[in-house]
Amino acid sequence: METTTLTFTDLVAVGLQAVDSRMRQATYANQPELDSAVELLLGARGKRLRPTLVLLSGGLLGADYERTIDMAAAIELLHTATLVHDDLIDGSLLRRGHPTLNARWEGGATVLIGDYIFARAAQLAATTQSLSSVQSFARTLTVIVKGELNQLLGSSVSDLRTAYFERVYAKTGSLFELAAEAPAQLAQVSPSIQRTMKDFGRSLGIAFQIVDDVLDFAGQAEEVGKPVASDLRNGLITLPTLHHLESHPDDADMVERLTRGELPPHEQDRLILAIRNSGGVQAALGEAEGYVESCLTMLSQLPSDRPEHQALADLANYVVHRTS
Ligand code: IPE
Ligand code: IPE
Ligand code: MG
Ligand code: MG
Repeated sequence: METTTLTFTDLVAVGLQAVDSRMRQATYANQPELDSAVELLLGARGKRLRPTLVLLSGGLLGADYERTIDMAAAIELLHTATLVHDDLIDGSLLRRGHPTLNARWEGGATVLIGDYIFARAAQLAATTQSLSSVQSFARTLTVIVKGELNQLLGSSVSDLRTAYFERVYAKTGSLFELAAEAPAQLAQVSPSIQRTMKDFGRSLGIAFQIVDDVLDFAGQAEEVGKPVASDLRNGLITLPTLHHLESHPDDADMVERLTRGELPPHEQDRLILAIRNSGGVQAALGEAEGYVESCLTMLSQLPSDRPEHQALADLANYVVHRTS
């Protein structure tokens, strides 16, 4: 007999629709300017990976469905708000293939719209009535903000690799961690399962961010939805560059000038090409695969009697094989 297997996207399709309507409900302001800004933001859908992780984790552990939807919506709104502020800070004009809020509105309004979404996200998180997950929610936002500040003002960490992984945890690992931990808190599973879920989410997020950094070098602008090699052009050292430096120490001076904003565009192009063609991109991808391997090991310690178990493994594999 033929068996049909559900992909992780099939498994969360209905839940994600509920998450979308919960986000819309929670952000309706009855103020035309604000509502049209929020509509632009929510209309340009991203990959919805964080709510996918919340739904699969909640399903795996038997968390209450409605509260899981609230938490998934809260986390995606938190993500959306950080992107609103981040795009303003970075001067990015394009996100999810659409103009950013800061491309259309003045900075002050963009800040306030971001604040509004943060506030609505917190309200939704509180709706779950789970004090521990609200605490995790607040802790995560603290980590993200400190990471953004370090990136803006310069981190005190001088070792490039350590600084890179701190940044990756702050901007992505921490929110994926929350997306896996909060459902475990809602389900009130044992502390050891809560910890495993948290570790799973963090490793998944780190793998995802490394791949994001790889795609910045190796991806196609149309698929990624933003300009290619923008990190390096903005003076940001990511894992492919760190690997390239290990095998080509002579380029250290060039990278140093780049981080000081002193590398002329034609030399930037040469460096970008060199990193794309050296093993740097491949080696970074190999590290991401290592994080996915540890996700799969953690998964083997979690309950395996529901379809979400396989779906979480598929999600982990998708994260390193995606092209956009
Ligand atoms: C973008 O995250 C910001 C990063 C942390 C790299 P995603 O790539 O998940 O963005 P969307 O939600 O799919 O647009
Ligand atoms: C955005 O960071 C992620 C946040 C947590 C705010 P980046 O600036 O590095 O990501 P993109 O390239 O804009 O998505
Ligand atoms: Mg940024
Ligand atoms: Mg940015």
